[in-house]
Amino acid sequence: MFTQQDNEDLTRVGPGTVMGEYLRRHWQPFLIADEVALADGAPMRTRLLGEDLIVFRDSKGRLGLLDRYCPHRRVDLFFGRNEECGLRCVYHGWKFDVEGNVMDMPAEPANSPLRDEVKIKSYPVMEWGGVIWAYMGPKEHMPERPPELEWGLVPAANRHVGKRLQENNFAQGVEGGIDSSHVGILHSMLDPSNPNASFRERQRAIDPKVSYLARDTAPKFFVRNTSYGLRIGARRNASDTEYYWRITQFLAPFYTMIAPRDPMSPIAGHAWTPIDDHNTWTFTFHWHPKNPLDSNYDPQSVNVPVHPDGSYRPINNRSNNYGINRDTQRLYSSSGIEGIGLQDSAIQETMGPIVDRSREILASGDAAIVAWRKLMLQQARHLKETGEVPLPKQPELYRVRSAGIVLPRGVDFEEGARELMKVA
Ligand code: FES
Ligand SMILES: [Fe+2]
Repeated sequence: MFTQQDNEDLTRVGPGTVMGEYLRRHWQPFLIADEVALADGAPMRTRLLGEDLIVFRDSKGRLGLLDRYCPHRRVDLFFGRNEECGLRCVYHGWKFDVEGNVMDMPAEPANSPLRDEVKIKSYPVMEWGGVIWAYMGPKEHMPERPPELEWGLVPAANRHVGKRLQENNFAQGVEGGIDSSHVGILHSMLDPSNPNASFRERQRAIDPKVSYLARDTAPKFFVRNTSYGLRIGARRNASDTEYYWRITQFLAPFYTMIAPRDPMSPIAGHAWTPIDDHNTWTFTFHWHPKNPLDSNYDPQSVNVPVHPDGSYRPINNRSNNYGINRDTQRLYSSSGIEGIGLQDSAIQETMGPIVDRSREILASGDAAIVAWRKLMLQQARHLKETGEVPLPKQPELYRVRSAGIVLPRGVDFEEGARELMKVA
């Protein structure tokens, strides 16, 4: 039984919460690298783990992530002047460097002790793998570097990074990312040539590449605990002698990798970074371990068209029911919503910002979800009891990938896909 208390502990991300403190021991990706590209450019408001922050790049190109509000009289530093290696509050001119030290207090006497006493809250920031990361935990526990996820290790040309705002708690995103049993249903296309045939028949008639998904919509789940999180095998019938395996990876605290359609195609993965209890940055990564992505590479419509104003809010969103088209739904696709990513957003957001997990009816297809919740609560509560989170100190453990493979029946999926899941 998943209690209300479990739900609180799983989903609340602010300072002092069980999950919030656990998340703070990890580096968090929160911006695409070019979002704050310019030295002395405009400071940007951001919000992470429930805290209002301001991010800027100083004259030397260093990134700063500070409390949004000036420690003097709490003015929003969005209006600050980014000048000569610091951010100056425009009200009384207090100026801060990227580490939060006071550089100037022009409205105070020159010998004011405040200059040394005051600091603004600041967090370490680093740029790696096409994204910008923040560390918001205790300094003495800061991991040397972010997790060595494969999308960060490959050359930039082999990688594509997309981002969208999701108005729901991060746990709902992760649960969607490891939910392999929805793939052949929510995301399925329908054969338009015979609209009178049944849903299941029209599903089967479509794209041969996804035929395993459509033919066997009730995969059997095999969930294994690993040093980095979970390895989830979803087994579908392929032939009388073979199974089709989709192996999803979950890497703590909020990374998922979904199975590529075949071993040659790029791999897709997500990071579900909590903005606050009710909002999430959904990063979508596509990468190829060996080859640059085609310049007109279409990330399988997983990337959702978003407003160009920097909000990353999808153009179709909850306010217009995600642009659902009932004719499309009748004729061509199971959802009538355009694009895999938006289909995911639609079902995750409209559960409500934090779904009440004590009211669900879990089924056999939810084995991975159950294992995930258990693991996350256990990890977060372990920190509360012991003060330790060992995983982020071992970034090399994240060197794994997802896989999709047909294996003879009788071969264990971890054995059969071992080489495919390895990152050199
Ligand atoms: S409020 Fe920022 S300097 Fe006074
Ligand atoms: Fe999905």
